[in-house]
Amino acid sequence: MYSTLSRILFKLEAETAHDLILGGLAKISRSGFLTGLLDKTHRARLAPLPHEVMGISFPNPLGLAAGLDKQGNACNALHALGFGWVELGTVTPLPQPGNPKPRVFRLREHNALINRMGFNSDGLARFRENVARADERIIKGINIGKNAATPMARSVCDYLACLEALHTEADYIAINISSPNTPDLRKLQRDDVLDPLLGALNRRRTELADECGRRVPLVLKIAPDLDGAALDAIANLSRKHHIDGLAATNTTSSRTGVKGHAHATETGGLSGSPLAAPSTAAVDRLFRNLQGEIPIIGIGGIDSPESALEKFQAGAELVQLYTGFIYRGPKLIREIVDGVRGGIGDGRSLRRGLDGVRG
Ligand code: FNR
Repeated sequence: MYSTLSRILFKLEAETAHDLILGGLAKISRSGFLTGLLDKTHRARLAPLPHEVMGISFPNPLGLAAGLDKQGNACNALHALGFGWVELGTVTPLPQPGNPKPRVFRLREHNALINRMGFNSDGLARFRENVARADERIIKGINIGKNAATPMARSVCDYLACLEALHTEADYIAINISSPNTPDLRKLQRDDVLDPLLGALNRRRTELADECGRRVPLVLKIAPDLDGAALDAIANLSRKHHIDGLAATNTTSSRTGVKGHAHATETGGLSGSPLAAPSTAAVDRLFRNLQGEIPIIGIGGIDSPESALEKFQAGAELVQLYTGFIYRGPKLIREIVDGVRGGIGDGRSLRRGLDGVRG
C-alpha cells in the first residue's frame, strides 16, 4: 500500500508530502479507534524483541529518529506502526518558523535527503500539550534545542527551559547540539563549551530528580562531521557529566557520495544511505572509547536489516532511522526488527548477541 501512496507523494514537493502524511498520522493519533486499527495491522503483527537500555524497557531496539514528529502530535500512530519508541522534536522554547521553504530536497538516486528545516517549532507550551495527550505507555524520547534568536552565550538557558518543562513527559531527553541548520549550534560540541552545558544540565536533572523522584536519562546527539579526537573528547565529557546515552549521528554537512546531483549544492544536512558509513564510524569510535559504559544509539542511513546490524556490530545498543522510513515506508520496520532478530539469534541481549558476532 505504501508503494502506491509513495508514488503519489513523491510527485509532490518534499515538505508538502511530509505535511500530508504527518497530518494524517496526527489525525489517526487523536482517534483511539483508528490508532487501534493501525496497531492491529502493524505493531501487533510484529514479534517483540525486548531490550533494556538506560533503565528503559524497549519493546524492540528500532526507534523513529527526531525531526519527523517535531510537534509531538503523531506519536500514537507512529508507535502503532511498530517502532520500539519515538523520538519527538526537536522542540525549542519559543515558537519559531524555521528557514524559508523549500527546505527539504530528495536525492532519490542516493536514497538520501538534504534538509535545512531549522527547528521549525510550535514552542514548548504547545508541544507539551500535544505530548501530554499521547498514550503514556509509549516510550518517548524528547529532543530539545535552542531558538535561533537566542545568543550562543545563553544557549544553556534554552536547554534548561526545555528540560524543566518536559522531563516529566519524557522517557529520556535528547540534547541536540548537532543540527547543521541553526547557526553555530554545532559549536556547542567544542569541549570548552560542552563542558559547562552538560554540567548545568546534569545538575538541574539531579535537582529535578530530588524534587519528583525520577531521574530522567540524558542523551547527547552528535554530528558525524567530528574527527576522532573530538569524538573522544565528547565521550570523556559525557562520562564526566553522567550522560546516559549518545546518539550518533545527526545529518552530515559533507556531500561525499552525492556530488554532481542536482540538489547536492543545497545548504543543509544530508541523511540516508550516504550517511551510513560515516555514522557507523562515529559509533565505532565512541564504542572503542566507552566500551559499553554509556550506551550508543546508532543513526544514519539505516534502510535494511544489514545496515542496522552494522550499527550494532560497531557498538550501538539501539538504532533509529528517518530517511529509510520516507523511502521504504512502514514495512521497513518489520523487515529490520525481524532481520535483526535473525541476525543476532538471541533477542534478549543485543550486546551479548553481538559480542558473539564480533567473535
Ligand atoms: C532530521 N534530523 C533531525 N535530528 C534532530 O535531532 N532534530 C531534528 O529536528 C531533526 N530534523 C530532521 C529533519 C529532516 C527532514 C531529516 C531528514 C532529518 C536528523 C535525523 O534525526 C537523523 O539523525 C538523520 O536524518 C540520520 O538518520 P537517517 O535519516 O539517515 O535515518
